[in-house]
Amino acid sequence: MTESRVVAGIDGSPAAETAIRWAAAEAASRGTGLRLVHAFVWPEFPVPLGPSDMAPGLRAAADKIVRESVELARKLEPGIEVAGTREDGFPSPVLIRASQHADVVVIGSRGLGIALGALVGSTGLDLAANAHCPVIVVRPDQPTYTGDHVLIGYDGSSPSSLALDFGLDYASRHGLRVRVVAAQPVHSEQHRATREELDADVRGRPGGLNAEIIHIDGHPAEQLLRLSADARLIVLGSRGRGGFAGMLLGSVSQTVLHHAVCPVAVIPAAAIGG
Ligand SMILES: Nc1ncnc2c1ncn2[C@@H]1O[C@H](COP(=O)(O)OP(=O)(O)O)[C@@H](O)[C@H]1O
Ligand SMILES: [Mg+2]
Repeated sequence: MTESRVVAGIDGSPAAETAIRWAAAEAASRGTGLRLVHAFVWPEFPVPLGPSDMAPGLRAAADKIVRESVELARKLEPGIEVAGTREDGFPSPVLIRASQHADVVVIGSRGLGIALGALVGSTGLDLAANAHCPVIVVRPDQPTYTGDHVLIGYDGSSPSSLALDFGLDYASRHGLRVRVVAAQPVHSEQHRATREELDADVRGRPGGLNAEIIHIDGHPAEQLLRLSADARLIVLGSRGRGGFAGMLLGSVSQTVLHHAVCPVAVIPAAAIGG
């Protein structure tokens, strides 16, 4: 049996269905299996929630989500191995644990229990900061496969260097153009790599020869969002060169995660060397 290396978090929401679609296509492209994970939070509540005969019904509902998700993935990609599991725990810790044995984890931008007005749920932000592999946040409200290029945000940091590798690999497997953006924030410290360093770095990597490299002045998140209008995927590091030492998710990645209109891949610091 193929070892499942693409993981998708599922909760029965429309965003989770988008995640299943993205993850199934990615598993097929990578030639790996797909594992669908449903976090079952009910046992985590320490207070008695009423008669315990509720539990079997809730478990059955959770198992139904897993069963139907597996059926959908198999229908979408009959050629891949699909496994589904229900695991006790809150979504973030369950999926962070699953990310230890995954190539990528795919989740929807918002689940069922999201606070009104939030654009990306807490699970997405938590995972982007803490997962052990790249995290893809997909949006239910946007068509997933429009756009013709992969947009990579590069500021010379090691997470952004991993973002570059991830984006180049994704683009070459999916036949997409690559656009690397290095934005120089106005009125701030030199933030990006020099033009020469970046050009040499990108061109020296597999698939980097034909990449379009854009050096631009302006607010990085704003420029990335503007230049991603027709992107298939945006790829960023969880952290960059700036920010505060204790932060796990930088301001550029947070802003782009909230406002992008296409899937966003974030390479967490914990994925480095992991
Ligand atoms: N000036 C920039 N130009 C292009 N991409 C950037 C820039 N700054 C940050 N990014 C992208 O956003 C990611 C997260 O960086 P950021 O949110 O700025 O974190 P930090 O606060 O640690 O600097 C980086 O790994 C990179 O992919
Ligand atoms: Mg920064």
